[in-house]
Amino acid sequence: MIRTCFAGAALAVSGLALAADLQPIKDAGPYVPSPQSVVADMLRYADVGPNDYLIDLGSGDGRIVLTAAKVFGARGFGVEIKDDLVKKSNEAAKNEGLADRVKFMKQDLFKTDMSQATVITMYLLPDTVNLLKDKFLAELKPGTRIVSHDYPLTGWIPEKYVQMDLEDKVQISGVTTTLIYLYVVPANVAGRWSAQMPPALAKQPATLSLKQQLTRVSGSLRLDGKDVALEDVKLRGDQLSFRLAGRKATFSGVVKGKSIEGLVDGKTPWSATLGG
Ligand SMILES: C[S@@+](CC[C@H](N)C(=O)[O-])C[C@H]1O[C@@H](n2cnc3c(N)ncnc32)[C@H](O)[C@@H]1O
Repeated sequence: MIRTCFAGAALAVSGLALAADLQPIKDAGPYVPSPQSVVADMLRYADVGPNDYLIDLGSGDGRIVLTAAKVFGARGFGVEIKDDLVKKSNEAAKNEGLADRVKFMKQDLFKTDMSQATVITMYLLPDTVNLLKDKFLAELKPGTRIVSHDYPLTGWIPEKYVQMDLEDKVQISGVTTTLIYLYVVPANVAGRWSAQMPPALAKQPATLSLKQQLTRVSGSLRLDGKDVALEDVKLRGDQLSFRLAGRKATFSGVVKGKSIEGLVDGKTPWSATLGG
């Protein structure tokens, strides 16, 4: 009986998986290439370099990934649903001698594993970029840069935001207005951290309490039984820094999963462990 139920459940699950596979691919936007000058700006604002692995979601004719490899020395791939564009991009990679560093795949961007990326680029419809927010937070490493042409991730604070007028855009969107948004994926820092302080600051282990909404972080540090508010808290990827209200100490640190290690005033070590 149990076995029958289990077999039934397994069939139902595989049926669901099959149904998900058979669902039509969501069209995330028509093929309109980013003007080459916008491509260059997107890559410059994201500070793309030879250590980067870039993924372009909806790669069109491949120009963003190809430029990232050719001009900025990066590696990466593009995913695209249109066969002819995938073929054209792979041919261009071969012709330009870049095929060992970039590739293009016929693949649904919503089902693409992005965990390898250090940079994500996209020029997609506004609702699509917002549908991707949870996937970005689930899959991307802290510090990964996300560059979006024209449409923002609502609720996220861009690190950089540039608006310009480009004649090239009139035939694409009907207006000259062009926007580029740069975001940096923040580490997860919310929670209570058990912290080891320099002896000059506290005799007992301290507690660092942090609240977080994406890149916005606030909190306090409990030092020898007294709560001190944090000021000027900044989180960029895995880099955290803050000051203590009414004191001169400036803390900086690197978040590595459940630990933070850093320096007070650039010289004395401090550390923290989540929970603990
Ligand atoms: C506006 S174009 C951008 C092309 C290129 N990234 C650029 O900026 O020049 C968007 C591309 O996304 C592709 N696309 C749409 N939905 C997709 C999906 N679900 N998965 C992969 N590609 C998709 C379209 O075919 C189109 O080529």
